[in-house]
Amino acid sequence: MNQLSLDGASHREKPPLALTPPLGWNSWNCFRCYDINESKLLEVADALVDSGMLQAGYDTFVIDDCWQAYARGSDGRLKAHPRRFPSGMQALGAELKSRGFKFGLYGSPGRKTCAMIYDRYPGRGLGSYGREDLDAETFAAWGVDFLKYDWCEADEDGTDLKYPDAFERMALALEATGRPIVYSISEYGRTQPWAWAGEYGHMWRTTPDIEKNWASVVSIGETHAKISNHSGPGGWNDADMLQVGNPGLSSDEAATHFALWCFFAAPLMAGNDPRTMGEDIRKLLTNQRLLRINQDPLGIAASCAEIAPGVDLWTRPLVQGEAWLIVNKSEHPIDIEYRSGAISFDRRLIAPVPAQAQILPLYGESPAAISERSVWSIPSHGCLPISCREDK
Ligand code: GAL
Repeated sequence: MNQLSLDGASHREKPPLALTPPLGWNSWNCFRCYDINESKLLEVADALVDSGMLQAGYDTFVIDDCWQAYARGSDGRLKAHPRRFPSGMQALGAELKSRGFKFGLYGSPGRKTCAMIYDRYPGRGLGSYGREDLDAETFAAWGVDFLKYDWCEADEDGTDLKYPDAFERMALALEATGRPIVYSISEYGRTQPWAWAGEYGHMWRTTPDIEKNWASVVSIGETHAKISNHSGPGGWNDADMLQVGNPGLSSDEAATHFALWCFFAAPLMAGNDPRTMGEDIRKLLTNQRLLRINQDPLGIAASCAEIAPGVDLWTRPLVQGEAWLIVNKSEHPIDIEYRSGAISFDRRLIAPVPAQAQILPLYGESPAAISERSVWSIPSHGCLPISCREDK
């Protein structure tokens, strides 16, 4: 076993993958457990292609929990659920790859997956405990490019697993296959994974599951405000999959949710059904200016300062210049004033802005020079993204 360092710095070589935050789609937020099957998922994949999402960068197609047959085969290997995935996972992965996607799957370190605990999935022994090498080999043979490895109370049922070790086992098993596999660690932020998971994984969940509501977005933001310096190329704070496009968030809230995740430098795993997505959500998710901020190669997550109760300023340094996001968490609209080369709120100076600064559109209109107006209004739960680039 590798020694973990006390300062959280990485002291081992891991595969150099995910140098910018992974982008893709995950089945859980919209279909949860029993509602996935191969023909439906291929329709989703086609919709991701037709809507321009794949082209915009959402190239990792992740099938979350409940793809598994209820029991392993006589050879001990995991198998696809025979009725919902009759062609098998390798064939489905090949279909996805032929459309231009990378192929992602879900697993767990203990004896159970989370659906076996929370969704009564009637499986047996579907976790990888004691079979890490075999499962890693199976995933590699199926052409898996991304593994979400989800804790699911793995220390129960007599395994006595401990957090970093349990995740290290699969990291080593994946690495031993020789296949480059992006490794996504999920333990819901319980053990401050940002301090240790970079040794093994390319991203790590920072919080309990995101919910389909504004309070959940705000609470994840509060966590990320404290840990922004623990993320970077090859190892990202994972704010959980997007709820953009799912019922429960207003269009202002969905836009703020998306913009925040871009500023966090978080992986963006769309969690909506792209087959039925409206044009506004499509425009938001494929917003090139925000995606460019998310994918900025410097990989420095935004830091947060409260400029007034309920009003935050997130600042993200970029390869060229920096970007700001003003978020209005309050229950009423606010006005940001622009005057004499500076912005202010409630007569308090926020910061000077370069003359070239632009207000970035959320739903796909054109950017506007900040100097175009003297007042920029932000609706309740809305946000104002600003690109500050000094022209050289
Ligand atoms: C949860 C996890 C979710 C989803 C689910 C599957 O623990 O946080 O994102 O993967 O398990 O059962």
